[in-house]
Amino acid sequence: EKGGYEHFMLKEMYEQPQTVRDTLNPRIKDGTIVIEELGMSEEEIRGIRKIHIVACGSAYHVGVTGKYVFEGMARIPVEVDLASEFRYRNPILSHDELVIVISQSGETADSLAALREAKDKGVKTLGIVNVVGSSIAREADKVMYTWAGPEIAVATTKAYSAQLIAQYLLAVKFAQVRDVITEGEVAAFLKDLQKLPEQIEMLLSNKEKIQHFANRYIAAKDVFFVGRGIDYAISLEGSLKLKEISYIHSEAYAAGELKHGTISLIEEGTLVAAVVTQEDLYKKTISNIVELSSRGAFVLAVTNTGNREIEKAADYVIYIPQTNKYFTNSLAIIPLQLFSYYVSVGKGCDVDKPRNLAKSVTVE
Ligand code: F6R
Repeated sequence: EKGGYEHFMLKEMYEQPQTVRDTLNPRIKDGTIVIEELGMSEEEIRGIRKIHIVACGSAYHVGVTGKYVFEGMARIPVEVDLASEFRYRNPILSHDELVIVISQSGETADSLAALREAKDKGVKTLGIVNVVGSSIAREADKVMYTWAGPEIAVATTKAYSAQLIAQYLLAVKFAQVRDVITEGEVAAFLKDLQKLPEQIEMLLSNKEKIQHFANRYIAAKDVFFVGRGIDYAISLEGSLKLKEISYIHSEAYAAGELKHGTISLIEEGTLVAAVVTQEDLYKKTISNIVELSSRGAFVLAVTNTGNREIEKAADYVIYIPQTNKYFTNSLAIIPLQLFSYYVSVGKGCDVDKPRNLAKSVTVE
């Protein structure tokens, strides 16, 4: 049932191009985005004053990306919350806002409770859910499915990728309806989205190189992930993937925050993964890389093809193909997933069922 793959996680990583297609293609019709299940008129979309994105774990990291994407592209203010915090903080919500709950399983106790809290307060709710007919899918006012199919490995990969796509589609749609992007921009966004599956395939085909690199770090004690903007959101997910399946302590930091404390943890040889896909922030993050290197860090950079500047500062560079700045998460996460996977395999960990973790967290 693993289809010839050694682990479900590897199989599911390899399913990502298809997952992205399945989440994307049915919602693009004659060059426009059609999200029928949203059930919102253009007037309602124009009326959204604020979006709240609520989720746990990796789904929360999708939400952190969503904040940058909805705000940057559609100019709608976004608050992102961990469901376990949102549910107990008596959130301020009003009828002209939208609460988006993101969940693979659709059964996460805190996410479900957050959804109920939002509904009690009379605000519109939308679930981005993978499991058809799950509690969150049933209870949310509207549900947009991520067509990733069953995900078996505890560490999410393909559902995460599908959640990103669902969110991009909403952001482009909202931006278009609210007239903050041109028709030309919409067409360019759609073209870039449709290129993602092939680009993900290309990144997956690079697995031997990443396996080789990962094998050097199976004895690492600490790994840091840094980035700015969307690259910070990608770092959060890269760090979580590594710690959950390899048991190596890892942390993600907004690169600009390092010098406010964390940089004291850098020693000779500490691995730092720097995510550098936002062109307007290259210079800033590169100067952080220089600071890290001068304190002994070994810096792995994940960046866009063509960013030659970085080779002077980083020790090892992985390039991702060109896409729109809002969509780089879908590509940059692939080498980080592979890295975590191969560190876990190299250490002999139970990749698909890491200790102390459950696939679906139905108790708080
Ligand atoms: C990490 C992971 C978890 C889940 C989280 C939410 O790899 O899988 O962090 O993302 O438990 O689960 P769902 O999406 O089912 O609500």
